[in-house]
Amino acid sequence: MIFARSTRCRRGPCSGVAGILSLSALLILAAVPTSAVSPVQASQQRKQVIIDTDPGTDDALAIMLALNSPELNVQAITVVPGNVTAKQGLENALKLVSLANRCDIPVAGGAQHPLFQKLVTAEFWHGKNGLGNVELPASKCKPDSRWAPDLIIQMIHAEPHQITLVPIGPLTNIALAVEKDPSIVPLVKGVVLMGGSISGGNVNASAEANIYGDPEAAQIVFQAGWPLTMVGLDVGNMTIFTHADVDELAKTRGPENDFLLRVTKFMVDLSEKYGYPGAAMYDPLAAGVAIEPTIVKTEAMHVDVETRGEFTRGETVANRHNTVENNVLHEDHYTIDSILHVTPNAEVCTGVDSRRFIKLFISRVQGK
Ligand code: BDR
Ligand code: CA
Repeated sequence: MIFARSTRCRRGPCSGVAGILSLSALLILAAVPTSAVSPVQASQQRKQVIIDTDPGTDDALAIMLALNSPELNVQAITVVPGNVTAKQGLENALKLVSLANRCDIPVAGGAQHPLFQKLVTAEFWHGKNGLGNVELPASKCKPDSRWAPDLIIQMIHAEPHQITLVPIGPLTNIALAVEKDPSIVPLVKGVVLMGGSISGGNVNASAEANIYGDPEAAQIVFQAGWPLTMVGLDVGNMTIFTHADVDELAKTRGPENDFLLRVTKFMVDLSEKYGYPGAAMYDPLAAGVAIEPTIVKTEAMHVDVETRGEFTRGETVANRHNTVENNVLHEDHYTIDSILHVTPNAEVCTGVDSRRFIKLFISRVQGK
């Protein structure tokens, strides 16, 4: 297994919380003869996830990957504004579940704008409709009437310690859920989010788009106190879909396959236009980490989100050593009184087996 690394991993491979949890789930699945597992039991053994999304080209890829992966049981899709408006995002999410014939999955709209700033969308990167200008038929599925943060709260209480949140857009809905009902925090199995970076941003020098899209919400989510895995630019930028991968997808046919073929082609063409070697698989990789945590290496770090910096608003500031000096000021000089330990609040992905992930992605959606 080859891991591309952004930094050296101080803890062994697959040491993340999500890794331990999912590995045990896979071991349970492997230990039970398939013939002895009823469909209901099988669906209970899968990791239950709620995907919070701003679809979005790479969001669409992530959703299709999750819906076609037996390791996951997608309980709901909640929509947040980000890449596109809340209205467009809801329409897109409904079209995606319809394409996959999964009207059984609740799809709910939530926040209409970030907590404390104006919504700024990114159609320039995701296409006018957010789906790479690929038009899908009108959805057969109807939206759930619940407000997304309420749906998240209800589902977590209904299935305590079972649900993993997979946010792949700005963190507004998740923060609103935590603020409304903080008792959900210890009841969540984990959070695997696409966002942040410890190696520079993509919106500007310091900030990644999802965190930049709602920094106050992100700070609430990072400080909530739940097991959190940060799938940031550090690994997303190493997970590149190329024209050769598009060609691989073109070998098979099917409604989802064909849609994803057109979207990935849009993404690769656009990325190349801006000088990148291919399309970064940001959101699909977060789904991939929920599916198979051993795809990444993680390091435990304390992460804060900068909300005030002139040049750094939205930066995820990671303490890589989890210590700070206790400096004592003596008029014109200071002394270091002691070294204080800082408790990590995130498993930050620092390495990825990118080809293994791309192969997994293609294999799951081919022919669908
Ligand atoms: C993130 O920003 C959005 O443009 C993508 O959908 C992804 O969630 C990458 O920075
Ligand atoms: Ca997204």
